[in-house]
Amino acid sequence: MSESKIPHHVGIIMDGNGRWATARGKDRSYGHKIGSSNVDKIVEHAFNSGVYALTLYAFSSENWARPKKEVDELMKLLKLYIQKFYKKLVGSGIRLIVAGDKSALTPDLVKEIEKVEQATKNNAEHILNIALNYGGRQEIVNAVNKLINDGKSVTVDSITEYLYTKDSGDPDLIIRTGGEKRLSNFLLYQGAYSELYFTDALWPDFDEIEFDKALEEFSKRKRRFGKI
Ligand code: FPP
Repeated sequence: MSESKIPHHVGIIMDGNGRWATARGKDRSYGHKIGSSNVDKIVEHAFNSGVYALTLYAFSSENWARPKKEVDELMKLLKLYIQKFYKKLVGSGIRLIVAGDKSALTPDLVKEIEKVEQATKNNAEHILNIALNYGGRQEIVNAVNKLINDGKSVTVDSITEYLYTKDSGDPDLIIRTGGEKRLSNFLLYQGAYSELYFTDALWPDFDEIEFDKALEEFSKRKRRFGKI
């Protein structure tokens, strides 16, 4: 595939952990655990394929409504992931950004996040955005409020500058695993012209081959951005 056909920024809605576990007679948290262990493989493969930025939807603003046990388990996995990233990937050239409202997270998780964000802020090879307590509508509202507070005018470009993904560019491709065909409040502003790719593969089964299928499909799309 030629370089120009590789998306610069890919967003992934990692859906299907619960169903994957249920189908194996396990509880949903087991699915998240296996789903979490799939993350590094896809991150590495995407970056090796020439993708510059990845945004992974790990926990939406609406996911708090899930049973407490499941929420706690997800938060635990996310904390482990951030800690592991700090140990292994700080010197890797990957900048890690947690996209979302940190105010609802526990202080110890926020501390870990800030530590890794700070340590990787000058890494310039790739950006990995973890969308955590993230909602696209909330992100737009926050951006507009911040612009007003800063006394700046609200324009298409100024809003973009106030989004979590400002340094990643708009996602060229948004992948959703798990068979549903919707955006579920993910990258609503940035995704205005994203190509959408839906696959039935559940997130724990979404491997390098499945990722390559999405890239292959993307390479065939004709992007017009509203023009003819
Ligand atoms: C959707 O599956 C998935 C989530 C709500 C969480 C995604 C989280 C992970 C993959 C693990 C942690 C992430 C990182 C970055 C370490 P679902 O529970 O809605 O599945 P279902 O649709 O089958 O019920």
